[in-house]
Amino acid sequence: MNTTGINTSSRIPPYQREYCSWLYENKILSKIWDSDCLQSLMTFGNHKKLINACVEEIYPHQKALQTGATFGSQIAAVAERLGIYGELDIVDISPTQTRRIRNKYRFLYPSINCIKKDALDKPTRKYDIIICYMLLHEMPIPTKAKLINLLLSCMAPGGKVVFIDYHKPAWWNPLKWIIKPFNRLYQPFAENMWQTEIKDFVVNGGQFEWKKITYFGKMYQKLVVKRKETLY
Ligand SMILES: C[S@@+](CC[C@H](N)C(=O)[O-])C[C@H]1O[C@@H](n2cnc3c(N)ncnc32)[C@H](O)[C@@H]1O
Repeated sequence: MNTTGINTSSRIPPYQREYCSWLYENKILSKIWDSDCLQSLMTFGNHKKLINACVEEIYPHQKALQTGATFGSQIAAVAERLGIYGELDIVDISPTQTRRIRNKYRFLYPSINCIKKDALDKPTRKYDIIICYMLLHEMPIPTKAKLINLLLSCMAPGGKVVFIDYHKPAWWNPLKWIIKPFNRLYQPFAENMWQTEIKDFVVNGGQFEWKKITYFGKMYQKLVVKRKETLY
C-alpha cells in the first residue's frame, strides 16, 4: 500500500502495459494464443522441447512456484509432473491471465493455486523448485535484476530455480536476422538476454551452482541454479 491507500504492488507494471497488455488483457487473443500449435510456430518448433527441458528438473510431490502464466500446455505439464501431492503456486500480475488459468485448471489440477500478485513481492514461503518461464525477456533490466535475485532467495534447502528464456543465438544461426528486428519492434527488452547472462545480475553469484543448456543454435536457454552445499 502507498499513502493513497492504493495497493500499487498489484498494478500492471508499465513495461507490460506498454508492450504486452494488448495480448495479456485481451480474453479473445489470449484464448487464440493458448494453443500449442501457435506456441510451436512462435518458437520455431521448440515449444515442446522447452517444456520438456523445464519438466525434467521437477520431481513429484515438490512445492513449486512459477512466476507468470504461460500459454499452451506448459503449466499442465508442470502440474502433471508434480502429481496430486505436489503444489504449484503461480503468481501473475494480470487479472485476465489469473482468471484464465483458474478457469482452465480448477477441476483438472486442484493442486494449482493461481494468485494475482506481482512476482516481485517476496513470497512468504520457500519452494523446492521455482520456475521462471519466458518472463525475463519481457522485463526492463532493473526489474529483471530484482526478480532474479529475489527468486534465488526463495529456494528451500536443496531447492533450485529454473530459468527458461531467450539466449544470444550462435553466430551461424540465420534466424537471428529475423529475431533481432522483431525484438527491436515488439520486445525491446529481449535483446538484453543476448547481451547479459542471467548470472551476471546476481549479487552473490559465487554462492550458487550454475548449469546452462542452450537449444536451437543457442537461441533459447535453460539455466538451473542451486545453492552450493557448505561442507562445514
Ligand atoms: C510468463 S510470461 C510468458 C508468456 C510467453 N509468451 C509464454 O507463454 O511462453 C507472461 C506472463 O507473465 C506475467 N507477468 C509479467 N510481469 C509480471 C510480474 N512482475 N509479476 C507477475 N507476473 C508477471 C504476465 O501477466 C503474463 O501473464
